[in-house]
Amino acid sequence: MIRFEPLEGPFGCAAHGVDLAAGLDDDGFLTLSRALYRHRLLVLKGQTCGKDAYLRFGRQWGVPIQHVVDTARMPGYPDLLEVGNVTRRWQMYSRNTAAFWHTDQSYEADVATATMLYAQKVPDMGGETRILDMKAAYDDLDQETRERIDGMVAVHYYGATSGRDGELSTQQLTEAQAATVPPVSHPLVREHSVTGERALYAVGGTAYGIAGMPNDDADALLRSLKAHCVQDRYVYAHKYEVGDIAIWDTQMTMHCAAPMNDPDGPGTERLLWRISVRGLPEAYARRRAAA
Ligand SMILES: [Fe+2]
Repeated sequence: MIRFEPLEGPFGCAAHGVDLAAGLDDDGFLTLSRALYRHRLLVLKGQTCGKDAYLRFGRQWGVPIQHVVDTARMPGYPDLLEVGNVTRRWQMYSRNTAAFWHTDQSYEADVATATMLYAQKVPDMGGETRILDMKAAYDDLDQETRERIDGMVAVHYYGATSGRDGELSTQQLTEAQAATVPPVSHPLVREHSVTGERALYAVGGTAYGIAGMPNDDADALLRSLKAHCVQDRYVYAHKYEVGDIAIWDTQMTMHCAAPMNDPDGPGTERLLWRISVRGLPEAYARRRAAA
């Protein structure tokens, strides 16, 4: 029996009673997906599964995305990334590459629909992921602003505006990596592919221009929208416990990792396994076919 309870913040919920090691049938999955699309953030508590079961769960949400920084993919599991400050050969540059407000894969044409982080090691202090509700931020815009930005198209590039406003910069892509992710366009206000709800999309991190607008004006607009979004009233900061899997609706949120130092003794290591997916859950197609 899955039991939900609100998280201590403006949005999101925790789910108890899910055991991914045992697998999740369509009914269980659909219960979770309804919760995610309603609350935009879902934290599964107390998971003990290994990489294979975690990946099976990730694939229930969509098609895993192999990250453009190919050196950060986990050996043997290219659909997984190891995120954190635990020094490994393949992630030596990744300690703080997500410490800026962003939306995963907004620099690609086919956007991510869900991202999940599975906590393996958590520090005693810090190490939170901050997640913000872009639908609530959009809903609070005044009517004049909503009408002005409706129909605008933003241009995105990997990490284009990371490193601003006291945030950290993400990793520079190599020439070969950059060649795989040329600039792409997305509506500034996107409709959710499942719910049809509208929200601001990825105004931080990758958006660096607005189609047909002078650069200075576009920059000012994007900065003001981001400043509106990152207000505390839209932000939940998740402090992980080992075994948490935090899943967020990537179409309706931005997130930002808390900067971490290198580990320095017990209680200072942070290690999470990340999966991002695109597309819709297969269970939806199965349910439609059976209807
Ligand atoms: Fe991210």
